[in-house]
Amino acid sequence: MLEGPSRPRGESNMPISNPRVLLVPLATPEEQAHCRSLRVQDDQLDFVATNAESLQEAAESPWCQPLAIRAADSGEMVGFLMHALDPDENSRWIYRLMIDQQYQGRGYGRAALRATVALLRDLPGGPGVALGVVPENTGARQLYAAEGFVETGEIIGRELVMRLSPA
Ligand SMILES: CC(C)(COP(=O)(O)OP(=O)(O)OC[C@H]1O[C@@H](n2cnc3c(N)ncnc32)[C@H](O)[C@@H]1OP(=O)(O)O)[C@@H](O)C(=O)NCCC(=O)NCCS
Repeated sequence: MLEGPSRPRGESNMPISNPRVLLVPLATPEEQAHCRSLRVQDDQLDFVATNAESLQEAAESPWCQPLAIRAADSGEMVGFLMHALDPDENSRWIYRLMIDQQYQGRGYGRAALRATVALLRDLPGGPGVALGVVPENTGARQLYAAEGFVETGEIIGRELVMRLSPA
């Protein structure tokens, strides 16, 4: 794994790091099983698909890139994210983001979001970064707004679209 703030450019299989977290491909069936075992709190179940559902979707959708979120100090898998290229509008989406319930509230979500934005801005496919969030998910909306995402008024299904302007 890489240490420190440096990270490779492009869509490689190398881990992406910032001081708090590493974003690492799920390389083995054991890692995927561990990822499927991560859980959000009961009152958050409506906010995000299960990791089992997301990994299934990724297996069927080559434009989806699933990554484990690991604590940089211990290497422990603390969460999961998936990003995807929208071929229609040429922008990158943060399609899933979750931190396991036992690791929430320790800064991993913010660190993972920042690392993901940095990763996506280095990839080809348009400078914009977007995500969808259900209206009741006030904690996540607060986090995204604090990191510069703006609600655009677009609604997809139940989700409000938030977009980050190009850097
Ligand atoms: C949203 C989520 C990823 C945040 O991860 P986290 O590691 O708990 O968040 P952090 O510790 O980095 O906190 C970052 C900010 O998130 C916001 N936040 C996170 N959870 C919150 C909660 N339950 N209530 C209020 N604010 C919350 C706060 O603004 C917080 O900043 P602060 O600590 O300065 O107040 C995590 O709570 C989660 O996995 N939730 C369930 C799944 C989900 O909703 N995913 C997003 C789908 S769009």
